[in-house]
Amino acid sequence: MITWLGFAWTVFAAATVAALSTTLRFMFPNVLFEPKTSFKIGSPDTYELGKVDTRWEDKYGVWIIRSPEGIYALSTVCTHLGCKPSWMDSEQKFKCPCHGSGFYKSGINFEGPAPRPLERFSISLADDGQILVDKSKKFQYEKGEWSNPLSLLAV
Ligand code: FES
Repeated sequence: MITWLGFAWTVFAAATVAALSTTLRFMFPNVLFEPKTSFKIGSPDTYELGKVDTRWEDKYGVWIIRSPEGIYALSTVCTHLGCKPSWMDSEQKFKCPCHGSGFYKSGINFEGPAPRPLERFSISLADDGQILVDKSKKFQYEKGEWSNPLSLLAV
């Protein structure tokens, strides 16, 4: 038979466990895992001269362009307010759907409100011969950073 004292202790113990679990949950907040900033995107041979390669735009947020000078990785983030432009092959430009900014294949802005060119990411060759893009290192044209050897993979 359950006495009132036993019942009270049971209620007290349950309340204590509930309070402790709330405190412990507070000490281990949800962790957001950022997507990888460094990734391999295959051999340079798989990128055609003069083409804007869009195969990584959704997964990694980069366009890969092979120019006569080399291969570079452009950010898919518009420098106006952060929308994602689209590559318009027939017009040979990136066009932002939000406010109409346009960017040449090089990433240089030429129309609309975007105040500066698209950013480029670090690009190099990994030991296994694949292209390695590192989005943690950005290069901005207006700061003269496109002359950095890591902003263009000479192949
Ligand atoms: S966000 Fe691209 S033009 Fe405004």
